[in-house]
Amino acid sequence: MKTALITGACINTGVAIVEKFASEGYNIIFTGRNLENVHAAEREYREKFPDVQIVGYHIDSLLDERTVDEESVEKLFAELDERGIFTETLVLNAADQGLGQKIFKNPLTDLMRVINTNVVWNYCLSEHAAKRMKENGGGNIVFINSNTAYRAIPDRVAYVASKGGQLGLMRALALDLGKYNIRVNAVLPGMIKTDRWEKNPEFYKSVPSRFTPIGDVAVGADIADAVYYFAACAKNTTGAELVVDGGNTIQLYPIIPDRN
Ligand SMILES: NC(=O)c1ccc[n+]([C@@H]2O[C@H](COP(=O)([O-])OP(=O)(O)OC[C@H]3O[C@@H](n4cnc5c(N)ncnc54)[C@H](OP(=O)(O)O)[C@@H]3O)[C@@H](O)[C@H]2O)c1
Repeated sequence: MKTALITGACINTGVAIVEKFASEGYNIIFTGRNLENVHAAEREYREKFPDVQIVGYHIDSLLDERTVDEESVEKLFAELDERGIFTETLVLNAADQGLGQKIFKNPLTDLMRVINTNVVWNYCLSEHAAKRMKENGGGNIVFINSNTAYRAIPDRVAYVASKGGQLGLMRALALDLGKYNIRVNAVLPGMIKTDRWEKNPEFYKSVPSRFTPIGDVAVGADIADAVYYFAACAKNTTGAELVVDGGNTIQLYPIIPDRN
């Protein structure tokens, strides 16, 4: 049985990714920052998928804004080694959204926090996972990136920069790890219907990225399907980007439907 390690999987898109891989028979290792939430998610997943092994780990990316918690990553992989668990697939879903960070307002440490989590911590996880994949004859890594790596959005300078950097990281890793039979790819969602969507229906009614050629935005399962494609199906694909945004980024401007 294969095992997938999925970060940030107590809520929203991470949950959909866990559910996709568990329903395909993968054993699951997942992470979250809050111990209680990790335990609650673990209970729910085990109830829903009694035939696969599901283990949650409590892990934060940072010691402080300036410092990635590398020791926790080392500890996580050492623990998996001890238990004889090899994660053939690593899904880097967790992200600091860097919401509302404005130029002239936020301190530099806010930018560091986002870049450290979304780029440096993900590099650290990739390095530890790839070491095991190399020893085991191969594996694959999937980044959950964003279409903001292609097109910027307002007041998200750190997030947009981090997702651009993450895409470069994905390509560099794909190049360096190909010879070890390790594939590295990225899914680029546009807007996803998360709990934030459910909590702010009025805001989301008017948000421009809703107006896509397809006429709707993704749900978590759409992202999970794309991740699964890279992990389990796309055996000759590495360094690739799969945009899942209803066609949002191909438009010059959003087509607002006629409301009459
Ligand atoms: N939602 C969208 O519309 C959208 C659009 C484009 C791309 N994406 C990308 O899709 C992925 C999932 O998005 P989402 O909206 O489902 O995410 P989300 O609801 O914001 O959840 C993100 C996860 O990341 C974890 N996380 C945040 N900061 C962390 C840190 N410093 N250390 C460790 N874990 C941390 C959170 O952990 P806790 O649960 O412990 O807080 C949470 O589980 C992200 O990579 C995001 O950038 C999302």
